[in-house]
Amino acid sequence: MNLKLINIKTLGGIHPEGTRWLRGSLLGHFPTLENAYLTITDGKISDFGPMTHCPQDELPTRDCSDRHVLPAFVDSHSHLVYAGTREEEFNLRLKGASYEEIAAAGGGILNSAAKVSTSSVDQLVGQATFRLENLIEYGTGTLEVKSGYGLDPENELKLLRAIKALNDQSHATLVPTFLAAHALPAWAKAQGMNDASYTKYMLDECLPTVQKEGLAGFLDGFIERDYFKLDALQHLIDARTTSGLPLKIHVNQFYDIGGIQMAVEAGALSVDHLEVMSPEALRALHGSDTIATLLPSCSYFLGIPYGPARELIENDCVVALATDYNPGSSPGGNMQLVCNMACTQMKMTPAEALNAATINGAAALHLSERKGSIAVGKDADLLITKAIPSLEYLCYDFGTNHIQTSILGGQTQ
Ligand code: NIG
Ligand code: FE
Repeated sequence: MNLKLINIKTLGGIHPEGTRWLRGSLLGHFPTLENAYLTITDGKISDFGPMTHCPQDELPTRDCSDRHVLPAFVDSHSHLVYAGTREEEFNLRLKGASYEEIAAAGGGILNSAAKVSTSSVDQLVGQATFRLENLIEYGTGTLEVKSGYGLDPENELKLLRAIKALNDQSHATLVPTFLAAHALPAWAKAQGMNDASYTKYMLDECLPTVQKEGLAGFLDGFIERDYFKLDALQHLIDARTTSGLPLKIHVNQFYDIGGIQMAVEAGALSVDHLEVMSPEALRALHGSDTIATLLPSCSYFLGIPYGPARELIENDCVVALATDYNPGSSPGGNMQLVCNMACTQMKMTPAEALNAATINGAAALHLSERKGSIAVGKDADLLITKAIPSLEYLCYDFGTNHIQTSILGGQTQ
């Protein structure tokens, strides 16, 4: 599909070709061009510049007067494919139960896993399609999706196959992650497994099929005092070496048990959550290539601390923003709202939030060469806003959708 966008009020997110990510203070600049054009050829960005240089050709043209254009959001942490919902637990939490108490009583992840076990791949795809269509309307173009609600080999592989099927039928780009260690299920406890031996079992059982069928690009585990501890993380690190799948690790959501230090040391691609940070964890991330992925809508929904965005930026970290869309701790996948929360609750600037939700999200999926900024040759995954005053307005006026049109791979959605 070829297309020319003309009279763009502000074209934003124009980073120099080859930009992998934005670290520390560099995050604060979201480069723009006023009164611009952009051409799309065969699904890629083929040219852009000021209107005064706009080529006169026969390309189909869309007038973007009063509209801004930016790269589609890259949401690098989600659990989009799940079965059923958990409003009953929401009610319990509002009456005073904590997330961890609900989990200890067999709710939480185990509750979702029970629902997955009685769902077919088609049913999982059907439910997630509805959610994904909504996300595309709100500007998400690329979405990481984790398994992790299967909790046994058969059901984890079922989830990964559902993610693959969903990707095959969608114009959005879905990136699958095998979340091998999310919660210790009753059957594993009954067989005498602990968090570490269960993690090793899941990796040993699933990885051959995951790799044969190309079902995942990354490995993940929920590294927490009450879930999976450092011995389990070591099995994930070992599996990274044998499988070649990079690590994206849930860590420091409730407690700091040293997981960040170990993940950084092992060269993890990202560490995600980081609501609870020690000086040692911050020091380990200082200037490191492991991306710090913050999930403000999880903090909002559970009422837990927000990740320390300012300290991370001051420590020269690569900070990304993502939704963590899941039925338990963040039942929402709106990246515009995540950017707003990053500003109001974590004191990021709109420029920092937009960069963290685009180019740094792409980096957290090893996709910087294709996604996350305006550059010639990148996928034409673009958002045309409604007639709003500025790009910053996306982060400022919350609760309504400011995206008029999503273009994914050059195709208008
Ligand atoms: O990222 N923290 C672990 N996993 C999810 C929540 C899963 C759930 O409650 O269903 C998260 O917040
Ligand atoms: Fe998560």
